[in-house]
Amino acid sequence: MRILAIETSCDETALAIVEAKGGLKNPRFKILKNLVASQIKIHRPFGGVVPNLAKREHLKNLPILYKKLVASGNTLNPDLIAVTVGPGLEPALWTGINFAREIYSDLRQTTNNKQLKLIGVSHLEGHLYSNILENIRMKNIFPSIPLIVSGGHTILLLMKDLTHYKKLGETRDDAVGEAFDKVARLLNLSYPGGPEIEKLAKKGNHEEINFPRPMINQKNYDFSFSGLKTAVLYYLKNSENLSVKKEDVAASFQRAAFDVLISKTLRAVKEFSAKSIMISGGVATNNSLRNCLKSKIKSQKSKIKLFFPEKKFCADNAVMIAVAGYINYLQKKNRRLSARGNLRL
Ligand code: KG4
Ligand code: ZN
Repeated sequence: MRILAIETSCDETALAIVEAKGGLKNPRFKILKNLVASQIKIHRPFGGVVPNLAKREHLKNLPILYKKLVASGNTLNPDLIAVTVGPGLEPALWTGINFAREIYSDLRQTTNNKQLKLIGVSHLEGHLYSNILENIRMKNIFPSIPLIVSGGHTILLLMKDLTHYKKLGETRDDAVGEAFDKVARLLNLSYPGGPEIEKLAKKGNHEEINFPRPMINQKNYDFSFSGLKTAVLYYLKNSENLSVKKEDVAASFQRAAFDVLISKTLRAVKEFSAKSIMISGGVATNNSLRNCLKSKIKSQKSKIKLFFPEKKFCADNAVMIAVAGYINYLQKKNRRLSARGNLRL
C-alpha cells in the first residue's frame, strides 16, 4: 500500500510517500520520499513558534513540497492519504487538513481511484510508531515501555502489542523539550533550545550543580519539569555576580532532567516485566539521553531491547504519520478530519 502523508502540527511542513506492507503482524516500510521544510529560522527571532506565522509558512510550503513530490513521480496512485489532525497548533493543523482534502478530491478525479482513502492521524501516535519504521521484528518486544519526549509532551506508556497501549503517566506541567527551550532562553541560547543545551552541556560538568530531580521518588509515572526550570532561574539569579559557567548549568540541568526520565522508565520496565523500551520525539535525538540510558541498562545487566528512531525521524516529519496512518488503517481507526489542538493519546 502506498501512503501519502502530511504533517503541519507545529513548525515543520512535511510530506512523505511511504510504501507499507506486512499487516499488523509484520509491518514493513519503505520510504520513497521524505520532504521537510523547517520554519526554525522564521520563528527564531521570537524565541518560540508563532502560530499565525506557522500557518502562513505552511500555506506557502505545502504546494511547493507537493510539486516536488509530483515531479519525482511518486504521488501516482497513493492508496491512502494520512494527515495529522492533532495535537498541535490549530491554525497550523487546518492548513494540512484542508490541503489533504484538496489532494484527495483531485486524485479521486484525475486517477479515477475510487478506493483512495483519507484518514486523520494523531501526531503522538506518529511519534510512538516512528519506532517501528526501521522494520524491527515484532517478536519478543512486547510488553514495551514507550516514552514520548517532545516540545509539547512527556508521556510514558505501556504497550501490550502494536495496537494496544495505555498511558502510565505524563507531565503535569512543562514538557521536557519545553523545559530545554526555556532554560536555553535563560542562558541566552537560540531557539530551539534542546540542541543548543546539548552542545553546551558537552563542555560542562554535570556534577557541578545539584539541581532537583522532581517527582523522581514518587511511586507514579507522572513528571514535572517546571520546578527544575525555576531552580535554574534562581541559581542564575543568585549567582549573578559570581563566575557561573554556563556549560556546567547546561550539563547539570540536562542530567537532572534525564535522571528523572530514565529512572521512571526503568521502574516501569521492572513493574510490567517489559521486553523493550521505545523512545521517540525531538528530545530523543539527544545523544546524552541515548548514552545515559544505554549505560544504565548495561550496569543493570538487563537484556531489555532499546529502540530509538533515526534522528531525522525523532523530530517532526511526515514519514511517522504514514506509519501511524498504516497502523490506523489496518485497525479501521479513523479520526475526524478536523483540527484538535489538544487531541489526547
Ligand atoms: O518532536 P518535536 O520535533 O516537536 C514536537 O512535537 O514538540 O520536538 C521538539 C522539541 C523542542 O522542545 C526541542 O528543543 C527538543 O525537542 N529537542 C531537543 C533536542 N533536539 C530537539 N531536546 C534536547 N536535546 C536535543 N538534542
Ligand atoms: Zn512532534
